[in-house]
Amino acid sequence: MFEWIVASGADLRSILVAVGGSIAGAIVGAIIKGVFDRRLQKRLEKLVDEARSDRKAAIRGREDALRERESALGELYQREAQNREARRELEDLQRAIAAKEITVHSEKTKLDQLLTTLRGNEAGLWTSHKKSLPFTDYNARIDRRKPAIIVVANNKGGVGKTTVTGNLLAYFDRRLRKRVLVIDLDYQGSVSTMLRSEQGAAVQERRSYVNELLSRDSSLGSLWAATRPLGERLARSALAPAFYELAQFEDRLLVEWLLQLGGDDVRYRLARVLLHDAIHEKYDVILIDVPPRMTTGTINALCAATHVLIPAIFNPLAAEPVENFLRTSKALMNELNPRLEFLGVVETMSPRANEGQDVRADGRRVIAEALQRFNPVVPILDTHIPRRTSFAEGIGYLKDGKDGKDARAVFDALGAEIKGRIGL
Ligand SMILES: Nc1ncnc2c1ncn2[C@@H]1O[C@H](COP(=O)(O)OP(=O)(O)OP(=O)(O)O)[C@@H](O)[C@H]1O
Ligand SMILES: [Mg+2]
Repeated sequence: MFEWIVASGADLRSILVAVGGSIAGAIVGAIIKGVFDRRLQKRLEKLVDEARSDRKAAIRGREDALRERESALGELYQREAQNREARRELEDLQRAIAAKEITVHSEKTKLDQLLTTLRGNEAGLWTSHKKSLPFTDYNARIDRRKPAIIVVANNKGGVGKTTVTGNLLAYFDRRLRKRVLVIDLDYQGSVSTMLRSEQGAAVQERRSYVNELLSRDSSLGSLWAATRPLGERLARSALAPAFYELAQFEDRLLVEWLLQLGGDDVRYRLARVLLHDAIHEKYDVILIDVPPRMTTGTINALCAATHVLIPAIFNPLAAEPVENFLRTSKALMNELNPRLEFLGVVETMSPRANEGQDVRADGRRVIAEALQRFNPVVPILDTHIPRRTSFAEGIGYLKDGKDGKDARAVFDALGAEIKGRIGL
């Protein structure tokens, strides 16, 4: 530079300017460089910090993800364990269902077989299981005939069973001053309806109290719960009323019995109550009204009864149902209640002297021939009940005026005949 200065002959001022400029430039350059370097360093530091925190964040994220995966895995294992458990339960359930299906299937087959028996042979149905008597001295209790337990029955409908029951009740109570219990075992509740006006205001509800007597735990207490006293015209008497819910209850009892689910013998539930020692202290006569079918109630009535009375309309068509009923019920009772006595057939709704006497005589002859075939012979009672419109509504025996007088003449005669036969 000096050579250049000397050589160029530059003046001192110029030289000084040039040197100063160079120094200043160098200083400024250094300053600028320093500034740049610091900034660069700061930026670098910042970048490093950022990179570090990014890495930390990334590590934290990875750790979080790891933890999440671990907990997800844990959940997965837990769920798998639960699934295994559920699968086991399902298998158990399937096994149980399979077993149940077999049971249901075999029960259904059994039921079908039994229902076939029922359709083919009513008596067979009620003797298809071994009997289990409610008392060891059951026959002796029937033989006591105390109280007299009379079932008014016939598998033919509309022959006057309920009318006979209602009027005999009046006869025993009012004429003989006997304490009478009427048990309605007809789900139509006909005798209950007939006696509605004789019941106190307290007994106007239509409930099938009689169900109590057919329930599994029937006892003497059930009888007190099932009976309602009658009003002042029949002050010594009581009624065990029935209504439509009896039908459903009987169906359930029948199925339970067919499948042998009840435990006890459903045929003797009423007998268990009525043959109790304490009954005769309360009642002298028990009358049972049944429907024209061999229902659970009917079979219970026959198994608890000491006597059967069979109302029938005498015409050739009625002969066959009477014989059928007798054959069925006798076959059944030979096995189930051998001491039951068939009191006889009572003719009902007999025509007036100037009407239909030929048909009536034919009917009587056919029925009498049929009755001869039973051993002992079942009699036709001497008394017959004429067809009278006044007998068709309510209890004729309790009516005023001529209607009442007519009814009392007829039912006193029938009652006296029955009294003689049962030795009351
Ligand atoms: N002696 C009679 N004279 C006129 N009508 C009568 C006589 N006896 C019953 N009836 C009437 O005949 C119908 C059938 O009588 P009842 O209800 O007594 O028969 P049932 O055998 O009990 O019938 P179900 O089989 O339906 O129980 C009733 O309307 C009844 O009032
Ligand atoms: Mg009836």
